Amino acid sequence: MTSEAVTIEDLPSQAIGCRRCGLGETRKSIVFGEGNLQADIMLIGEAPGEKEDESGQPFVGPAGRILNKVLEEAGINREDVYITSVVKCRPPKNRLPKKEEVTACVPYLEQQIKLINPKIIVCLGSLAAKTIIDPKLKITQARGQWLEKNGVKMIPTYHPASIFHDQEKLEAIREDFRRVKEAYLAWASSLD
Ligand code: URA
Repeated sequence: MTSEAVTIEDLPSQAIGCRRCGLGETRKSIVFGEGNLQADIMLIGEAPGEKEDESGQPFVGPAGRILNKVLEEAGINREDVYITSVVKCRPPKNRLPKKEEVTACVPYLEQQIKLINPKIIVCLGSLAAKTIIDPKLKITQARGQWLEKNGVKMIPTYHPASIFHDQEKLEAIREDFRRVKEAYLAWASSLD
């Protein structure tokens, strides 16, 4: 064990070969996260899918295309934010991560939040919102509502993949990303 402080640059290396849960048996990649390590906005999804497992990058499959679209429409550059998921390895057949998988993986997420120190966190879907904000949260009631925790503004929205089952959720996600952009601009102008 080293007593040296872990930095955000070397945090992903802490997970190399991770066997904290059974997903280590079936994954191809650990999809740790990507983006601006000094981001003011952090996006947190659920778990990697097939394309993410193949590439090692978050949100590069069908859900990523939706995410890119709503980010662009809101005037947010993907390169300016940091994107990760609650669980860093793909659950087989994209099933929901199990409780013990979330518990095993969440310390990585907690370190990412601490080291990146974003001003705004967007929880993409129910699992991220329950993990980060409140285990009892109901995404249908909480989406689009701001909360503040430890000085960080947090907003839950639907997971981009949810629109594949319910197209109407797209407008809600768009609206929430407009709110994120507005809140970001308000925070940035408060620094002037
Ligand atoms: N869905 C997620 O929650 N995360 C990804 O990286 C891809 C799809």
